Amino acid sequence: IDKTNYVSRPPVVTIMGHVDHGKTSLLDKIRSSRVAAGEAGGITQHISAYTVNKNGNDITFVDTPGHEAFTSMRVRGASVTDIIILVVAADDGVKPQTIESIKAAKASGAPIIVAVNKIDKETANMDMVKAGMAEHEMSPVDWGGDVEFIGVSALTGEGIEELLENIIIQSELLELEADPTALAKATVIEALQVKGKGAVATVIVQNGTLKVGDNIVADTTFGRVKALLDDQGKAVKELGLSRTGQVVGLGDVPITGSALVAQKSASEAKEIATTRAEHSRAKELSASTKVSLDEMAALIAEGKIKALPVILKADAGGSLEAIKASLESIKNDEVKVKIISSGVGGITEADIALASASDDCIILGFNVRPTGAVKTKAKSEGVEIKTYSIIYALLDDIKATLSGMMS
Ligand code: GTP
Ligand code: MG
Ligand code: NA
Repeated sequence: IDKTNYVSRPPVVTIMGHVDHGKTSLLDKIRSSRVAAGEAGGITQHISAYTVNKNGNDITFVDTPGHEAFTSMRVRGASVTDIIILVVAADDGVKPQTIESIKAAKASGAPIIVAVNKIDKETANMDMVKAGMAEHEMSPVDWGGDVEFIGVSALTGEGIEELLENIIIQSELLELEADPTALAKATVIEALQVKGKGAVATVIVQNGTLKVGDNIVADTTFGRVKALLDDQGKAVKELGLSRTGQVVGLGDVPITGSALVAQKSASEAKEIATTRAEHSRAKELSASTKVSLDEMAALIAEGKIKALPVILKADAGGSLEAIKASLESIKNDEVKVKIISSGVGGITEADIALASASDDCIILGFNVRPTGAVKTKAKSEGVEIKTYSIIYALLDDIKATLSGMMS
């Protein structure tokens, strides 16, 4: 590779760990914000990112959810990052999603720093956390291992300076560099439909500079950058190395985790996207998914299993993916959830039409609501719409419905 134009770039740091161990609170303390206080159900349900400047150094942080349903977001968070901060609550120790996060972190190959949070609590027990982590090949430096453990409190701010210093030291060791003059290459960490804007992708720039007017391709969709918003939602002309923000201008919502790449020309961007779209259509038609759906249909027809048909709509690609995976994994031998259709965006009349064509189909909306006209149509067609803002409320409700269907 020609490294003539390379310059050092800020580190991308992903925060991972078990639910409620204090990831969002820690980031709130670092950037003096209050995100955690405003979250539905007190849990993080989206991946988010922002850049902060601490003591002259820029650091891009990625916050991930700790609730068990969001495995794919954690894996994605771990895969875009340079450094991982594993948050473990000092009063709670190693928990299932701590272990899952360790695995995702190790698989990504990024260096890991353990932040033992809530050390302000009377019940805090650093040794308990260290012993628990050591069982998962995460031995602390002061126990002869190679993992840095830093006691912190998102409440009092204790230990946070030390944590930030450690991040800077780690990033210097990594010698992170990229070429700001190259055609941009970014990773889509979230994607959604916004009224009046169309598809909006949240990205982290890995190489080059993403500019308004760039021809871009992401997954099977393409377009031209119409607008860029920085991590504060402010319109900007470009996003530089390791910067995060939102891109407006893609024709459709790309799959989260896909690469968004600038191309020399609009025709090249289109060509790449269309070729990929053809391949993925061919894949969809290939045996695996079709057969299993047919098999399921046959079993249902024979009365061997019952199915609860649902149409799923969510506000963003990440939540859609998490809910789909959770619904499909509900283990129940007699009754299954059958997702007839799913997508990012509001509940539409087309969804009602599809639901009314299928017996007992319900529409599930996550952070999306039907308009008045859609509600009226649903009523007249006898279609039930259920909306939720907390993922476990949705899952608990569906589990209860399935139990009710068992004979
Ligand atoms: P998820 O994203 O849902 O997995 O949770 P999280 O890890 O982001 O934790 P969050 O920031 O939502 O904090 C969970 C709870 O712990 C909240 O009630 C916080 O106020 C509390 N909390 C977080 N950090 C600390 C801390 O350092 N000390 C004390 N005492 N409480 C804390
Ligand atoms: Mg959180
Ligand atoms: Na929480």
